[in-house]
Amino acid sequence: MSEAGTSDYPHLPPAYRLVALETCDSTNSEAMRRAEEGAEDGTLVWARRQTEGRGRRGRSWQSLAGNLFFSLVLRPDCSPQQAAQLGFVAAVALGDAIGSVVPPMIEVQFKWPNDVLLNERKGAGILLESKIVDGAMDWLVLGIGANVESYPQDLEPPATSLRFEGAPGDVTAMRLLEAFAPHFMSRVNRWLDDGFAPIRRGWLNHAYGLGEEIGVDLASEHLEGRFKDLDDNGTLILELPDGGTRSIAAGDVYRIG
Ligand code: BTN
Repeated sequence: MSEAGTSDYPHLPPAYRLVALETCDSTNSEAMRRAEEGAEDGTLVWARRQTEGRGRRGRSWQSLAGNLFFSLVLRPDCSPQQAAQLGFVAAVALGDAIGSVVPPMIEVQFKWPNDVLLNERKGAGILLESKIVDGAMDWLVLGIGANVESYPQDLEPPATSLRFEGAPGDVTAMRLLEAFAPHFMSRVNRWLDDGFAPIRRGWLNHAYGLGEEIGVDLASEHLEGRFKDLDDNGTLILELPDGGTRSIAAGDVYRIG
């Protein structure tokens, strides 16, 4: 791990404490270590390169040069269940940020639980990792990886990048982070004031596969049905072929047909 030079780093609102690194194993791992050492809410670990980026469900995250990798230490004063809503807050804020820097012809959608799609291909992913002590949140690390310059070619379903979808050359990883930071603050403030409902609405307005037939891969089960709704906790409600419903807390979804 090495500190990045000071001349070329993102400018963020003062509520954030930027830790800018040239390289690290995983910004989530680094943020978790710092959280354990007492890092304050708002500590943001950003790295130009990661050697061991992690994704959801134990997958690795290919960290290609020029893409965005950062993790935010949060110490939300809420239940662990409510804290999980911050993944949706971050997805919607990232959608705001992307919308503010790229041409409107790139369609931004949210794929449950926390992916951001660009023209129907994955452009960004969010990883939440937390520590709960005696049933209360100690810290939450919210990690975001966004494909700005390039994307892994060997993924199924396929990925994409902002550049490939037509973002102009001045849209860099740093610029996207600078756009994200204030949008995230304002979305978090709205969430604190008004709860999950406005975030849920914003997410559902651009939800991938809503109302359609989807497949859901769970740890040891595969389900198919209609993506009916997102409940007040961010749980996916799947309508099964027999008319019943299933609440899905974690899994991978894809559209059928
Ligand atoms: C996913 O879609 O599976 C989530 C991917 C999250 C990747 C980011 S990159 C920055 C941060 N550091 C990590 O090791 N992972 C997250």
